[in-house]
Amino acid sequence: MKIYIAPIAGVTDYSYRKILKEFNPDMMFTEMISSNAIVMGNEKTKTDMLKLLPGDAVQLFGKDKDVMLESAKYIQSIGVKHIKKEVSIPIIGNGDIFTPEDAYDKVKKSKVDGIMLARGVFGNPWLIRQIKEKFEFGEVKTIVTDCDKIEMAKKHLKILLEDKGNRGIVEMRKHICWYIKGMKNSSKLKNEINKLTKVEEIEKRLDTFII
Ligand SMILES: Cc1cc2nc3c(=O)[nH]c(=O)nc-3n(C[C@H](O)[C@H](O)[C@H](O)COP(=O)(O)O)c2cc1C
Repeated sequence: MKIYIAPIAGVTDYSYRKILKEFNPDMMFTEMISSNAIVMGNEKTKTDMLKLLPGDAVQLFGKDKDVMLESAKYIQSIGVKHIKKEVSIPIIGNGDIFTPEDAYDKVKKSKVDGIMLARGVFGNPWLIRQIKEKFEFGEVKTIVTDCDKIEMAKKHLKILLEDKGNRGIVEMRKHICWYIKGMKNSSKLKNEINKLTKVEEIEKRLDTFII
């Protein structure tokens, strides 16, 4: 049973894939990438969107089949093995998997070969490991504490800033909301964090939240 991470615009960027990678999904998709942008040599696409981790799969979009083909060739030339050559096509279950039990039910009921996660891993990369545990041991062993979530949010913020510089601060806001969802006083923290513009302030606010 394989676990895939879906293409998710605005979420599965290089930084978050780095976080997710720690939990060993079988394959992760990039955000959707414009085949036109690749062929036109758009710098942001090449340096930002096509910054890949080993094993990443790329989702291309475009209307022109020649442009699609050319961009696919480019993607292959930089080492992505995204074209499926096998004849048998695996069936992947995707949609509404938020818990290990959801994954387990989907696999048992629909006889899929693997599952693909999207919203379920928003602020919850641990879901990948928990699903593996559910299949391997019949139960989930990884317990995620509020402290774990805050530490992960800080680590994610650091990676995002290293990757994208200060614009990462705004991009990180949605991720922080997802990490703290369901925690006590999370809506208050969310409102406060959304007003902060300095990394140190955000880190400090996250630290004091769990004291
Ligand atoms: C914010 C967001 C962005 C998405 N972006 C893409 C995308 O770029 N390409 C794509 O094929 N699917 C995209 N999807 C769809 C997901 O890949 C997935 O198929 C869908 O969310 C159902 O899975 P889920 O119920 O686990 O979220 C997106 C979904 C969300 C919520």
